[in-house]
Amino acid sequence: MPVEAGWEAESPTNGNMEGRVAGAHRFDGVDLRALAVQVPTPFYAYSANAIRYRVSRLRQAFHGLDLRICYAVKANSNIAILHLMSQQGVGADIVSLGEMQRSLKAGVPADRIVFSGVGKTGEEMAAALEAGVWRFNVESADELSLLQAIAQGKGVVARAAARINPDVDAQTHAKISTGKAENKFGVSIDEARRWFAGAAQMSHVLLDGLHAHIGSQILSLDPFGKALRRVEDFRRELVEDGHAIASVDIGGGLGVTYRPGLDRPIAIQDYAALVRETFADFKGILVLEPGRHLVAEAGVLVTRVVRIKQGSDRSFLIVDAAMNDLLRPSLYDAWHEIVPLHDRTEMARYDIVGPVCETGDTFAQARPLPRCGADDLLLIGGAGAYGASMASNYNSRPLTAEVLLDDGRYSVIRRRQSFADMIAGEQIPQDWHEA
Ligand code: LLP
Repeated sequence: MPVEAGWEAESPTNGNMEGRVAGAHRFDGVDLRALAVQVPTPFYAYSANAIRYRVSRLRQAFHGLDLRICYAVKANSNIAILHLMSQQGVGADIVSLGEMQRSLKAGVPADRIVFSGVGKTGEEMAAALEAGVWRFNVESADELSLLQAIAQGKGVVARAAARINPDVDAQTHAKISTGKAENKFGVSIDEARRWFAGAAQMSHVLLDGLHAHIGSQILSLDPFGKALRRVEDFRRELVEDGHAIASVDIGGGLGVTYRPGLDRPIAIQDYAALVRETFADFKGILVLEPGRHLVAEAGVLVTRVVRIKQGSDRSFLIVDAAMNDLLRPSLYDAWHEIVPLHDRTEMARYDIVGPVCETGDTFAQARPLPRCGADDLLLIGGAGAYGASMASNYNSRPLTAEVLLDDGRYSVIRRRQSFADMIAGEQIPQDWHEA
């Protein structure tokens, strides 16, 4: 497949080290060094072809099933990315009204949107019902009764799925593990059983689906196997008890390669084979909510060296990107590949840090890199997921530009934030009100 070949060969986050370094200048046919002349660093660049390729490969793996891919918007919520997804027939998994509005604006049809999250408010439920979202993944009894009340008030029927907490260890970072009983997500099978037993009494909620999402950056098939088996056993039990189950949503969670040669992501064919085998008797709609799998390796953060500072026992490579732009290393000690966009071969070891006033503003420690100097460009790989979407204005740094690349062309899909954008909505008090 030419897209795969073109991308894999060019991708700075794939292939062997030699290939990666040599190919790092170009991403989806665009010379990143030339792009950095046009767009101020730091900026995110995303490969449209890498995303299209991931979507089509996922779809092929599930060929023949009644599949709905609902992309987890939180992974990368730029409306251009959502538009690209919608052009591929991909729906959305949302967790807020902001994500819903982005998805609708980007052209995702409401009936391809699933609404997840433990804290949905009545206001959010009402707005989602008005927009006509496909279904709610419900995570507590309180939420279920509120949904019934809101839907009744509007005279509509809300479709719902029970989010099951299968009590499985996803064997991933504790902060992104969601499927253990101690986590806030979903309900036990016992509780869900009671929901279905009482479902007929709910006049305005059609509870006809199951949902499970056990965590993120999962690199082993084993936890998926255990969780999906529990969901399927429960589904069969429900069907035997006379409940119709129209859809099973198996969440997201597929891990990607951050550390080439070390991270071994699950082959998509193996994942699909597990799902086919587990749900062989299920004839309804299968929903996937991938986030990272579709976008992580399709994105890089391009940053420029501000200066090198020689510490007493370390060399600090101070770059113009920081933890507010890409939080993952600070928050999860996440390892991201860092590749200079120059061809020097002599090696040095650097602590790669941003300008933010926190020691945690560190992208990498003692990382061997070809020797760098001020103004050199570096790319940080695997930055397409949970990069821009988790960025903040900490230290009053503007949100970076984001650029979409497509076969040698580029388009700025978010301009760098201006100072005026950054302080919009703030004001020095003029009127004081009694409270
Ligand atoms: N579905 C639900 C209900 C979720 O909560 C999530 C992610 C997904 C799908 C998508 O999961 P994925 O396919 O991307 O693994 N900020 C963290 C990741 C947090 C994931 C939160 N939930 C990180 O940077 O690693």
